[in-house]
Parts: sequence; structure tokens; C-alpha cells
Amino acid sequence: MRSRRALLYMPGDDLHKIRKATTLGVDCICMDMEDGVAFNRKSAARDTIVQALNTLDFGRSERLARINPVGSGMETDELKAVLPAHPDGIVIPKVENGNQIRWASALIADVERQYAWSIGEIILIAIVESALGIINLREIASADPRLCSLIFGAEDLAGDIGAQRTAGAEEVFYARSALVTHTAAFNLQAIDLVHIDFKDTEGLILESKQGARMGYTGKQIIHPNQVNPVQEAFTPDDESIAKALHIMEAFAAHQQAGKGAFALDGKMIDAPIVKAAERIIARAVAAGKIRGNGHP
Ligand code: COA
Ligand code: MG
Repeated sequence: MRSRRALLYMPGDDLHKIRKATTLGVDCICMDMEDGVAFNRKSAARDTIVQALNTLDFGRSERLARINPVGSGMETDELKAVLPAHPDGIVIPKVENGNQIRWASALIADVERQYAWSIGEIILIAIVESALGIINLREIASADPRLCSLIFGAEDLAGDIGAQRTAGAEEVFYARSALVTHTAAFNLQAIDLVHIDFKDTEGLILESKQGARMGYTGKQIIHPNQVNPVQEAFTPDDESIAKALHIMEAFAAHQQAGKGAFALDGKMIDAPIVKAAERIIARAVAAGKIRGNGHP
């Protein structure tokens, strides 16, 4: 699975910021047409995104475009404008049901056929950020094979449920936890909330680590200064990798010896702990830190 530790937004009508994003080594670059773009700049954003896709070298960063919500009246024109320039994926905001994802997927398939691209190569990412979206997570997460990640939108959700955002994010804990549980059930990645105070690196790191502990695989970001702290927080450190490899080796040896549970460094190890260790290794491999065989 592709690593999506940090997903950086910038207004799609701002070519300077898009160009800057391509120099940062960020996993995902998300050129926005939705809330980061003023109403009278929506069509400029489409044109600028097409220009960026056609002319800039994004290096290893994933090239994503965020459209306006399905039902906004802008979504069809936006998809038809940007898809011929072949982004790697489309981000759909304010998703509340599976039909919205299947609608976008079918439109993308039409364009893929038209250009003789392979069907399914343009991925979808859905942002869930309303009360209705949260209670429909199951049908959203299982809507379409093109869907590879869900994004948790805390600001919109707080507005929708009448909550006030706090540093610890307790007010959105149920939704944040429900989202990551659903992505795990349907084998998707989970991308966590935005830390909008982009000058507060200390808070950003704490919040990133909290998300990573909950099972999130990445985080949305809004400023270049957030790239490195976030990508680091979502990359397993050397100590965790070594420990995970140690657990997996010991488990294999004990299985051979006919023991399911055993003690390692004074702690009990059994199958779920091994599964968690395997996830750490998978993340380290996706981040390019080690190879599949566990070696650097
Ligand atoms: N992507 C790429 N480059 C960005 C960037 C972003 N999200 N945010 C800032 N930069 C660039 C600036 O253009 C500036 O470049 P320069 O030094 O070459 O002139 C540099 O990074 C430093 O920016 P800074 O002056 O600290 O911030 P700012 O005042 O220009 O912008 C924001 C602050 C919040 C407006 C800006 O970070 C932003 O637009 N973020 C994304 C907003 C968005 O897309 N929201 C919708 C999704 S939640
Ligand atoms: Mg939003």
C-alpha cells in the first residue's frame, strides 16, 4: 500500500503554493477546489490544477485534486476538467453515503475508458465530516474498490454536531475512533484531522502521535512546516521496528515449538500482539524505511 503519512492541501488557484509543494518531499499533494478556494476563484482553480498537472514535476508525491461535494452542482464540471490531466486521485469532501462515491467512480471509469487508461488506476479518497457521514461509515467504507483511504474532518464535524474544538479533541473522539475502526475493517488507510494552528509544532507532534496510536496512518496538513514532523510521527521509529521484528521472529520460533503464547522481555506475546507488530513493519516498508524482508 502506498504511504500517505502527510496530505498537504493548498488552494488550487495558487500555482506558487502548488509549485512549492512539489519541492517538499510530501507523500500527498492535494490541490483544492473546495473550501480553500473563494467562490469567484473556482474556475481559476480548475484551470490552475490542470496547468500544474500538465507542466510540473511532482516527484514521488501523489497528485490529488479535491472537488466540491457531490450535490454541490460543481462536482461534474470539476471532474471533467481535471481528469483528462490524469491526477493520481480525487478527494471527495462531505461524503455521507456510498452512492456519492459510486457516482464519482463511474464518472472516472468513463474517462479512463475514453483515454484507454486502465480501469481503477485513478484512486478515490473520501472525507467524512458530518454526523450523517459518521453514522453511515460502514456503507461509505465498503462503497467501491477505487476507494483507498478515508479522511477524518474534525472542523466540519464539530460545526455539524454543535461541538467546540479542543486541543485534546475529546469532543470528536467517538467519530475519530469510529472512522479508524471502519477503515481497518475494510482494509483502507485512515487520515487524521488537521492541526490548524500551523505555528504550533509541539502541539502538532503530540496530535500526530495521538492519531498514530489510534491506528491512523496519516494526517491532513496545511503548511510546509508541518510536512516533516507529521511524516516522522507516522513513520515507525527504529526502536519500534526492531521490537516488532524481534516479536515476529520469536513468535515464528515458538509456533514451531508448538507454543501459541509465550513470554518475551517479561511480557506476554500472542497472536494479536504479533498482528500489531506486522502492521508496524508494513508501515515501515510503505514509508521506504526498510524492505519487506526487514532489512534497511
Ligand atoms: N502549500 C504549499 N505552500 C505553502 C502552503 C501550502 N499549504 N502554505 C504556505 N505555503 C508557502 C507560502 O506560499 C510561502 O512561500 P514563499 O516563502 O515561497 O513565499 C511559504 O510557504 C511560507 O508561508 P507562510 O508565509 O508561513 O504562510 P502564508 O501566510 O503564506 O499562508 C495559509 C498561510 C494558512 C493561508 C496557507 O498555509 C494555506 O493556504 N494553507 C492551505 C489552506 C487550504 O488549502 N485550506 C483548505 C484545506 S483545509
Ligand atoms: Mg472540510
